[in-house]
Amino acid sequence: MNLSVLAKYSENLEKRYESFHYVFNKLASKKNNVIVELGTSRSFVSGGIPGCMSDNIKYWDENVVENWDWGAGLFTRICAEVIDGSENIFYTVDPDEKAMRISKAITLGYAENINYRLETSTDFLRNFTQKIDLLYMDHHETCEEGARLHLLDSQIIIDNDLLSKDALILIDDIHLENYKSMPGILPKTSEASLTPAEHYGKGTFSIPYLQSKGFRLLFEGYQIILGR
Ligand SMILES: C[S@@+](CC[C@H](N)C(=O)[O-])C[C@H]1O[C@@H](n2cnc3c(N)ncnc32)[C@H](O)[C@@H]1O
Repeated sequence: MNLSVLAKYSENLEKRYESFHYVFNKLASKKNNVIVELGTSRSFVSGGIPGCMSDNIKYWDENVVENWDWGAGLFTRICAEVIDGSENIFYTVDPDEKAMRISKAITLGYAENINYRLETSTDFLRNFTQKIDLLYMDHHETCEEGARLHLLDSQIIIDNDLLSKDALILIDDIHLENYKSMPGILPKTSEASLTPAEHYGKGTFSIPYLQSKGFRLLFEGYQIILGR
């Protein structure tokens, strides 16, 4: 596992650097990790740059790193690079064909350890039989439907006992109260049921559920990390 990849992209990763570092640092102490990302990287470039969300390969320039879709976090590419040449296995899951084409293009050259799964998170989890060491829940959008999907998927994960004993769950787009003052970190929804004092974004329903199942918050920030 090559942790220097994180240092290389630290400025681009910005608000996600610390949490990415936390999870990969923990994984580096173990072998043969199973990593699952729900929701794959879906754009060659960040919002505001021509070609955002297009799957036209002309918009992918591997050499212009600053234009990559850092707004979304780019976990797919980061994970692919970090585990390149190691014994770790990475599943990235998304039902959107366009997103999957983009994801495959940006990880070309690192694909040996990657399983690209064109299906919903729910279908994937219902049929998965391995124990997961790192689960990245970044699927759907920051809205009530997305938060409810995260809850449903969390229930499958618990019911089917899909996590290894020391597994970590990383959740994106949390917007905890004490991080709201950071640039770019603002509540993204005005939906009544998603405006508690602390805005949990995609984890609004899954975080309290997972806590009720014995998970603790190990890291709080723009993203959160849960573990037992
Ligand atoms: C925010 S993006 C993921 C970004 C990516 N993890 C990254 O780090 O760059 C959300 C993705 O979730 C996908 N998505 C939507 N519904 C989904 C579902 N039911 N299961 C899995 N992925 C889903 C979308 O197609 C989209 O590509």
